Amino acid sequence: MKDTTSLNDMDTKLVEMARSISHNARVHLSGFHVGAAILSENGNIYVGCNVEFDNYTNTIHAEEAAISAMVSAGDLKPIKIAVFTNADEPCFPCGMCRQSLFELGREDLEVIACNNKNVKKANMGDLLPHAFHL
Ligand code: THU
Ligand code: ZN
Repeated sequence: MKDTTSLNDMDTKLVEMARSISHNARVHLSGFHVGAAILSENGNIYVGCNVEFDNYTNTIHAEEAAISAMVSAGDLKPIKIAVFTNADEPCFPCGMCRQSLFELGREDLEVIACNNKNVKKANMGDLLPHAFHL
């Protein structure tokens, strides 16, 4: 897995948008803010944050929210996603989100995980090898 801090202008824009939307997260249960910013093949950017509910299981992940915004707008193919967390180490998307992201973006989808200090990059093919798809 690549571990790099080299960000181009678009990477930096996505990271800033992910960081900004993470402030809107509803995280009264965990205090764990997550923001996601997706760049689509058409050049559009969609953002989302995590939304927690008192029964825990209804919680919406930031990546899911961004995916939902993208698909609702009529875009179907993500090519890059930045995920910002307020954790000590950058966090890549969970297994459930990896499956959803893989189905839409396949192996070449670029994933940028970041917090306020560090950035890590990986492709979806690295994050979910031998992925299931129909
Ligand atoms: N979370 C995300 O938003 N994305 C992930 O892929 C992992 C987990 C959120 C859900 C919950 O609000 C908080 O992080 C702690 O699990
Ligand atoms: Zn997730």
